[in-house]
Amino acid sequence: MLNILAISGSLRAASTNSALIAALARNAPPGCRVSVYDGLGCLPIFDPDDEGERTPLEASELIDAVTRADGVIVSCPEYAHGVPGGLKNGLDWLVSRDAAVAKPAMLVHASPRSLFARAALAEIMRTMSFALCEGNMLEIVLLGKKQPEVESILAEPANRLAMRDALNAFADFIRAR
Ligand SMILES: Cc1cc2nc3c(=O)[nH]c(=O)nc-3n(C[C@H](O)[C@H](O)[C@H](O)COP(=O)(O)O)c2cc1C
Repeated sequence: MLNILAISGSLRAASTNSALIAALARNAPPGCRVSVYDGLGCLPIFDPDDEGERTPLEASELIDAVTRADGVIVSCPEYAHGVPGGLKNGLDWLVSRDAAVAKPAMLVHASPRSLFARAALAEIMRTMSFALCEGNMLEIVLLGKKQPEVESILAEPANRLAMRDALNAFADFIRAR
């Protein structure tokens, strides 16, 4: 059983990226378990002076969750052509250790825009030595949609199939490494 950790880069209660992550967890194919990390909003701001023995509990929990995971999935909005600070802060806690090194990762998208953030996040994660699964792109357009339309889009058979296909492709990528 592959254990995949899914992270939304949005802290918004009605986040479309978080809805996509939750739908991936519900639609995981046999052999994959997707668990959602929702602690980004509780992480202290990264400070290199707070590493080692001083690492805050919240950061240790994120580091341990990434270390234990067989792979990481990120769905992230774009803010002012960049990666949201909360997600970048979470990633910064992972830089000076082994958690991200060679860890399979996949980006998924809830917006058809966000092209600057997609490129920046891919560059950041490659620089951190994540093994980015590049060929397999899942995009389900939820931009500007509100509940209950978000859930009805995510429940469409074609979108459920696309989520399962993306997870199966990511599982193959993980197993091939
Ligand atoms: C402060 C702010 C800045 C934004 N800047 C951009 C941007 O530069 N480019 C873009 O495509 N969308 C931008 N957006 C739109 C969000 O990326 C978009 O609404 C996203 O789908 C929201 O994700 P969420 O529903 O998970 O919170 C911005 C939204 C906010 C709140």
